[in-house]
Amino acid sequence: MAEPVRIAVLASGGGSNFQALVDRFNRAGGPQGAVVGVIASRADAGVLRRARRAGVASAVPPPQAGEEETAEFLLETLAAWRSDIVVLAGYMKLVPERVVRAYWGRIVNIHPALLPAFGGKGMYGGRVHRAVIEAGTRITGATVHFVDEAYDRGPILCQWPVPVLAGDTPESVAARVLAVEHQILPAAVESLAAGIVRLGADGRAEWAREWFETEVFTNREG
Ligand code: GAR
Repeated sequence: MAEPVRIAVLASGGGSNFQALVDRFNRAGGPQGAVVGVIASRADAGVLRRARRAGVASAVPPPQAGEEETAEFLLETLAAWRSDIVVLAGYMKLVPERVVRAYWGRIVNIHPALLPAFGGKGMYGGRVHRAVIEAGTRITGATVHFVDEAYDRGPILCQWPVPVLAGDTPESVAARVLAVEHQILPAAVESLAAGIVRLGADGRAEWAREWFETEVFTNREG
């Protein structure tokens, strides 16, 4: 049988998306694959507590590390864990270009809006949802995309819409979007691990034909 796909996570915050991945993969009877480690960009990130509880390895780059040293640390740690796939789950730092290149097509990010809207440098967490409300848009959502050298850019794998309701606050929108993130991130990573989606030669995410032949699409009457 093929070796289970090894998933590494990069995170900066509380780690609820990390948890969603662990809950999906690191359990008996789960899909082929396992979350094998998390790199937190800061030593006080809540995700580290979750990793300890889940028995998943963790690492934090030296706090004063410059770009080159951080790149080296990331590459060495990801290699030591024999990572096949890298998932940015609330990672607030730019991923060094060398790391992006090393994992090209195997590194994805979750963003709490419908990219390319409401993304880019400085657009994270509550700021995204505040901008959504200020813009008056009625629909936001979540996006999973392949990572390239810029913040929140790169070929989109999947998106899911979420309504913005009258009286919403950044917190209420965040909670509604986060619930969707916890669904689509594990689903997208599972599809990537299974080879159902990949980064195509034309630079776009390419979903296998079999996916559209699953019962989700074919089991309709009429
Ligand atoms: C998530 O909403 C994620 O989409 C967002 O940070 C949050 C992390 O939550 N990421 C970005 O804004 C990236 N630009 P979590 O730590 O509970 O998973």
